[in-house]
Amino acid sequence: MDGSNDEDRVSQLEALGEELRNLEASPLYAYREEKGYLPVPGEGNPDAKIIFIGEAPGAQEVKSGRPFVGNAGRLLDGLLASIDLNREDVYITNVVKDRPPDNRDPHVNEIAVYAPILLRQIEIIEPNVIATLGRFAMEFILEQFDLPQQGQKISDLHGRALHTETARGDVTIVPLYHPAAAFYSEDLKRTIEEDFQVLKRFI
Ligand code: URA
Repeated sequence: MDGSNDEDRVSQLEALGEELRNLEASPLYAYREEKGYLPVPGEGNPDAKIIFIGEAPGAQEVKSGRPFVGNAGRLLDGLLASIDLNREDVYITNVVKDRPPDNRDPHVNEIAVYAPILLRQIEIIEPNVIATLGRFAMEFILEQFDLPQQGQKISDLHGRALHTETARGDVTIVPLYHPAAAFYSEDLKRTIEEDFQVLKRFI
């Protein structure tokens, strides 16, 4: 995948989007069809240096097929702006790419079924930084990259830059709280804002 140019990346990401649309193996596929929801592959700069990975799309996202366009998305946009970035500069996606019923937490088998798509997205985009939003994305990425911090809590790891060697070079993983956490606590909101500043180093 080394040296992919923009056009390659766009067509490879499109092919993944098509795979997702036809992902009948997903336990969430029947629910998507029944409700007339759209799958949410991800969007942004295929050449991005930073990829943001959330948990799963919610009600607004599955209406538009776009990640983080509801309330949490507005917060994410503000956080990006605070470090002089906008959505077009980065790539934004989720671990699970269909909406779980009633916005419940994703199940292990759901995470497993979408995992190959997320891992391919990372391979295609080749980001230098993987910023995880919330516990599910953090746990998934720490496990996939076999980091020694696996099993540690987000309350200990948030805002830290964790370095790892991959076949294509150094990658930095930055665990962040999910932006939606800011709705529930002013303290967490401030923490998320501070943690975002860590990303400035990598822009
Ligand atoms: N929350 C997420 O984790 N992802 C979205 O796309 C929207 C809300």
